[in-house]
Amino acid sequence: MKLPRRTFLHLATGAAALPISRFAWAQTYPAKPITIIVPFAAGGPTDSYARIIGGQMGRILGQTFVTENAVGAGGTTGSTRVMRANPDGYTILMGHIGTHAFSVALYPNLAYKPDTDFAPIGTVIETHNFVVARKDFPAGDLKEFIAYVKANAEKLNMAHAGVGSNSYGIGLMFNSLLGVRPTIVPFNGTAPATTALLGGQIDYMMGSISDFGAHIQSGAVKVYAYGAAERSPVLPNVPTSEEAGLPEFEASSWWALFAPKGTPQAILDRLTDALDGALDDPDLRKRFFDLGGDIPDKPKRGQRPLAALVKSEIARWTPILKAANANTQ
Ligand code: MLT
Repeated sequence: MKLPRRTFLHLATGAAALPISRFAWAQTYPAKPITIIVPFAAGGPTDSYARIIGGQMGRILGQTFVTENAVGAGGTTGSTRVMRANPDGYTILMGHIGTHAFSVALYPNLAYKPDTDFAPIGTVIETHNFVVARKDFPAGDLKEFIAYVKANAEKLNMAHAGVGSNSYGIGLMFNSLLGVRPTIVPFNGTAPATTALLGGQIDYMMGSISDFGAHIQSGAVKVYAYGAAERSPVLPNVPTSEEAGLPEFEASSWWALFAPKGTPQAILDRLTDALDGALDDPDLRKRFFDLGGDIPDKPKRGQRPLAALVKSEIARWTPILKAANANTQ
C-alpha cells in the first residue's frame, strides 16, 4: 500500500519517538475497558457527564468505558490517583474547574500540579451555577435572600462537595461577595448535598441543572439566581444574577478529561478524537443541553485549548479564592 507522503512522515515520526513495543501497543489501543475516575459521589454532575461522554466515546472506540467513583478532599483524592496511575490510556480522569484550578489556591500542599502533571484530552462541557435554598427558606427573591443571609449567617449553613470542589469555590466566592460566614458543610459530591438540601438540613448551596433542574421545576427547592449573562434556555423563569441584583456573581464551570502525564501521544490523540466525535453526536448534544450544559465549540476542544484553559483558570481563580478565603475565615 502506498501511503500519502504526509501520512507516512507522520507515522514515521511517531514511530521514531516511541520504542517499538509502545508503538505497537498504541496501534492496538484500546484493547480493554477504559476507566474514567470520577472524583465525586455517584449521581452528581461529574458522574453524569462522565457516564454520558464515556458511553459515546466507547461506541466510537469500540470499547467499554467504566466509571469509578474515587471520592474525597473536593475531588483531589481521585485526581491524585489518576496522576499516579499507569500512563497507558486505561485510567483517565473527569476533572473540572475545581480539581484543576480552585485546588491550587485552596491546597498549599496539593499532591499534583494541575497544569503539568496531567496530559489534557479535552474539555467536555461548560455550565453555569444556580443559587438555591431549601424550599421553606424565608426569602422570595435574591435581594431578600441576601438580606436574610447577611442578618442570619451564623445560624445558616451552606453545603458543598468538599474543599476544592466547584460548589465550594463558587460558594466561597458568593459568600465573599456578601461578606458572610455561614457554617459550611462538606459532602463527597453534590448528589448527597442535594439530598440534605431537599431534607431541609442544608440552607443553601450552589450547583447546576444536573443537580437541581427537576427539583427547581417541582418546587422542591427555591432558586434565586443563575450566574450567567443570559437566562438558561432550560429554566427560562430563573433570573440571571444581574437581573436579580448581584451582577458580580458570574459563575461558570467546566469539566474535562485528563490522562496521566506520560501517556503516549498516539493514545491521547485517539481519546481526543473520540471525545471530539462524541461531542458532535446529536443525541449526546441533546442530553448535555437538557442538563444545562454548553458543548465547547471546535476551537475550544482538544488538548492544547484545555492546557491553555487550565493555566488561565489557575491564574484567574487563585487570587479570587485566596481573597475570598481570607474574607470568610
Ligand atoms: C462539584 O461541586 O465540584 C461537583 O458538582 C461535585 C459532583 O460532581 O458531585
